[in-house]
Amino acid sequence: MKLRGIALLKKECVPSKNAEIIAKLNLEQKCALLSGAGTFTTRGCPKAGVPSITLSDGPNGVRKQAGAADHLGLNPSVPATCFPTAATVACSWDPALGEEIGRAMGEEAAAQEVAVLLGPGLNTKRSPLCGRNFEYFSEDPYLSGKMAAAYVRGIQSEGIAACPKHFAVNSQELRRMASDSVLDERTLRELYLTGFEIVVKEAAPKTIMSSYNLVNGTYANENAHLLQDILRRDWGFSGAVVTDWGGSNDHALGVKNGSTLEMPAPGGDAVRELLAAVQSGKITEADVDARLDELLTLVLDTSAAVQKHSRSFDADAHHALARRAAAESAVLLKNDGGILPLAAGARVAVIGDFAETPRYQGAGSSAVNSIKVDTLLDCLAQSGLQCAGFAAGFDRQGRPDADKKAQAVALAQKADTVLLCLGLDEIKESEGLDRVDMKLADNQIELLQAVEQANPNTVVVLNAGASLETPWLAHCRALVYGALGGQAGAGAMVDVLTGKVNPGGKLAETWANAYAETPAKDNFAGAGRTVQYREGLYVGYRYYQTAGVPVAFPFGYGLSYTSFAYSDLKVTADGVTLTVTNTGARDGAEIVQVYIAKPGAEIFRPAQELKAFARVPLAAGESRTVMLPLDDKAFRYWNTRTDGWEIEGGRYEVRVGASSADIRLTANVDIRGTNAPDPYAGKALPHYKSGSVKNVPDAEWEALLGHPIPQDKVKIDRNMTLGELNHSRSPLGWLIWAVLTALLNASFKKGKPDLNVLFQYNMPLRALAKMTSGAISMGMVDGIVMELQGFWIIGLVRVIYEAVKNQILNAQMERRLRND
Ligand code: BGC
Repeated sequence: MKLRGIALLKKECVPSKNAEIIAKLNLEQKCALLSGAGTFTTRGCPKAGVPSITLSDGPNGVRKQAGAADHLGLNPSVPATCFPTAATVACSWDPALGEEIGRAMGEEAAAQEVAVLLGPGLNTKRSPLCGRNFEYFSEDPYLSGKMAAAYVRGIQSEGIAACPKHFAVNSQELRRMASDSVLDERTLRELYLTGFEIVVKEAAPKTIMSSYNLVNGTYANENAHLLQDILRRDWGFSGAVVTDWGGSNDHALGVKNGSTLEMPAPGGDAVRELLAAVQSGKITEADVDARLDELLTLVLDTSAAVQKHSRSFDADAHHALARRAAAESAVLLKNDGGILPLAAGARVAVIGDFAETPRYQGAGSSAVNSIKVDTLLDCLAQSGLQCAGFAAGFDRQGRPDADKKAQAVALAQKADTVLLCLGLDEIKESEGLDRVDMKLADNQIELLQAVEQANPNTVVVLNAGASLETPWLAHCRALVYGALGGQAGAGAMVDVLTGKVNPGGKLAETWANAYAETPAKDNFAGAGRTVQYREGLYVGYRYYQTAGVPVAFPFGYGLSYTSFAYSDLKVTADGVTLTVTNTGARDGAEIVQVYIAKPGAEIFRPAQELKAFARVPLAAGESRTVMLPLDDKAFRYWNTRTDGWEIEGGRYEVRVGASSADIRLTANVDIRGTNAPDPYAGKALPHYKSGSVKNVPDAEWEALLGHPIPQDKVKIDRNMTLGELNHSRSPLGWLIWAVLTALLNASFKKGKPDLNVLFQYNMPLRALAKMTSGAISMGMVDGIVMELQGFWIIGLVRVIYEAVKNQILNAQMERRLRND
């Protein structure tokens, strides 16, 4: 609290880049700059020449809130182009397209005076149920990393910063601010970090967002292993680490361990926390200066780019890009008898609520206020097809509606073909909320069956940001997956249906036959604090193919209106060369995939892994020789004995295919190994060797982890969530819990979960001090904790005392910051 002494603490170590500015600041000013001023703004210091900058979501368009700001996408934002979400564009397997989208978003951001665009999101899709999967690219880190790197290059080409997120192992929404992802080091490196490594090394993002969760017992934002050892030392990241909103736990530890900017606006308390940490020797002023240097580089660099920008962009051109992106990303999953493309003049019945009110983006902080939104009905009017009529067909929220169904069936009989628009409704895919199953609503499946009976020429157009079970597949002749296509997704779908665009997209995640068959099922999003990543490396196709589990649609699968042949494979350790020929009558693009396998490997590994890919456009009849380089990630594995990347020597099989299950050519290549000791020698790991990881016993999981499974106990401390208050020893805690639970349950009952209440439910107590713009201090939270521990009177007195102190100190500090 000895603030008058601050000036004396000023100069310990002044890093080079922004030395002049740093030398002008006293310690309080420095500490203040390391946390936000508002929900989406940083603090400035005009006298020292430090401007304030704006950060905005999000991964598929700019969500700049000019009025009341929130981090859940609840209040409106400035109109911007809503591009297809990452889950969609990943199906294009086209980094060049990702870069174009990135550039367009960067342009819109700069035009709106946004200096940091909070995306792309590239967490690994561990389970199909993660509520934010629509915001992420793939179950495969190589594909995710390559796509995300392209987005970053595009965004940053406008001079502003991209902010890849959420670093790291953030693959579920339940208890998102207080869950501990427990996993072994090899799985961490190979599955959950490789995508980020690619982004950092190949695209040099100016910022990166740390995730809310803990990783192996330590919050990601203060995790020295993640931020210092791996991100900054091994990968050479020199930019600013930004916390997720409210994701800072121990700000001082964050600063010491590599986290630059705490967001959103924790108020004076966070500044005092840093000051006290320097004064007590918990951290040094050099730690503060190092972070400040990163922050100033970001702020000066990006604000200059924002200042220079013309403040305008071509909204029509961006809409056209959004349409092309959605069309390139559409995946044709079934096309019996070549029912698609539809002939010009064909008479179609359009059925399904989504044809009129499209489902084109997810809910939460990524939700864009779209400039305009195309609908399938409107776009069909300009397509050359004849529309026999429209029927909504089903209730969007899943309630049975016999009238709607009957009208749809009657309409189906009047057309050559039915275009049946099915999908997930808005609330099924949202930030803050994991899905409860992989199912399409029953009323939609019933409608499909009834419509198909009336007209077997039924084409299903599916909009959902994540994979679904498809036991209903036999009831349609064609299935086109448009994912979440953005504001121009409907037009793109019409282009695909009519053959104006030949669909070339391929799935970026496996579609399992049933949720029960997914590998993480038993350990996904459990109610407790600890989330065990017991399945290890066996996520997505790595599991299904190694364990021999059949799937509905494999990773990398997608049909076309033409066909392709593969020939002349030549393989070296550095790359793959082959010829691809379009053997059909239409132009199209083929996504060629290279998987590496090591039959009989000593060190257990998935049956095969994606290590290169290319999207090859080919005119009808055209042949092209393509070269796909193999990089340093092609043969490596993480060795926990040497604590480094190693290569097992010997013969590898290089498999080139049209999907992970449709391998067309293979060749062997001999690779020199690094002769590292076997990290698993003497350990019994039968499930990990076979890939059948659904029932790994505790002892085997502990052998892989290298330590006992952490205990999962509710503790009454700053990190107790509001949803755990029933475990407190205070009637006040029970009351709050009861009210929140009742509100939440009521909203679920209505079919419209209240995201705000859900956020609070999963929120740890400390977030009260992190997300209330300084109104609540950590001292007050500690008082609340005492109250919850049963010390009612002392707790209450402490809260009141701390509240008064907080008000006074905040006012004094803000005054000083204004005047100094
Ligand atoms: C989300 C981030 C987002 C931030 C700001 C958080 O709740 O997890 O992805 O960028 O809010 O809106």
